Amino acid sequence: MKRIGMLTSGGDCQALNAAMRGVVKTLYNSGEEVEIFGFLEGYKGLIYSNFRMLTGKDFSGILTKGGTILGSSRTPFKTIEEPDENGVDKVEAMVHNYHKLGLDCMVILGGNGTHKTANLLRTKGLNVVTLPKTIDNDLWGTDMTFGFQSAVDIATNVIDCIHTTADSHRRVFIVEVMGHKAGWLTLNAGMASGADIILIPEIPYDIDKVVDAINKRNKSGSGFTIIAVAEGAISKEDAALSKKEYKKKLKKRTVPSVSYEVAAAITKKTGMEVRVTVPGHMQRGGSPCPYDRVFASRLGSEAGKLILNNEYGFMVGYKNREVVKVPLEDVAGKLKNVDPNATIVQEAKLLGICFGD
Ligand code: F6P
Repeated sequence: MKRIGMLTSGGDCQALNAAMRGVVKTLYNSGEEVEIFGFLEGYKGLIYSNFRMLTGKDFSGILTKGGTILGSSRTPFKTIEEPDENGVDKVEAMVHNYHKLGLDCMVILGGNGTHKTANLLRTKGLNVVTLPKTIDNDLWGTDMTFGFQSAVDIATNVIDCIHTTADSHRRVFIVEVMGHKAGWLTLNAGMASGADIILIPEIPYDIDKVVDAINKRNKSGSGFTIIAVAEGAISKEDAALSKKEYKKKLKKRTVPSVSYEVAAAITKKTGMEVRVTVPGHMQRGGSPCPYDRVFASRLGSEAGKLILNNEYGFMVGYKNREVVKVPLEDVAGKLKNVDPNATIVQEAKLLGICFGD
């Protein structure tokens, strides 16, 4: 008999359900007797012992369903070791509840912050297996996270739609793409949709280079320009500031995000009309794409296999087209960013895409 706890933490994404279904189907199909404790709304569920007993029925029909059947929330790692407003020691509570329920292991699905806490729980003696979810694809130790390809599809569709209207007007169109401080989503959606300019956090932009690229397109007879701007994109001047100075500057920002700053600067320098589209959380919504359904199911079943083999302390990741297990202590606290010299960036430049550098 195995008693498995499961939770999804942090911002949701597509294919969380597919991944959990993968774990559970693998466990059930092994013939092992299993009890599944589904903790609700992320780590909060484990801290406050808020869970539901789940059965096969709960996992039926969820392969294609976006969101998470367990709900999710953010429990920031930086305050995880501080007591809550009622003085509850959150880490102690999680360890206590794990033992009280007689769990054999926790399956934790999440991104960067989630992995730091998962690793902390591992150091406290809990058996933990994790799965890498995030549309940002910025998790260290895996070439890909699930949710990412689905979000690329959505952001690409948005830019595709903008393309047809852009074709009718002599304007600059900016689409702001999610991704936190990583440019994976913008780079991939931008390339997939034929964006002319791509601005990502890893390559600070010079607005004059952006304007040069727009003017060049105008001169060549292409009356419109499409710019994919990562929500974390940063100008060269801002990148030169210290973290503290930059934070201070952000507090004084009078526009909602970097895209509007880029838009205002372009209008000022070219006189062109600029329109900004921010698809926002749409990028995390809807059904997982077929790739993510397969990918998350594969990772889920490998997690199930680890549990059956009593192998704990790993994230199931994907490296060089192979599913791999990565020690949690290696994953926790590291980010995976786009290398500005990566071949994909060089190839994009060869295709004529401007990165503003
Ligand atoms: O990490 C996933 C993500 O969607 C980021 O791309 C984005 O910056 C952030 O979450 C948004 O967070 P929230 O849902 O808390 O607004």
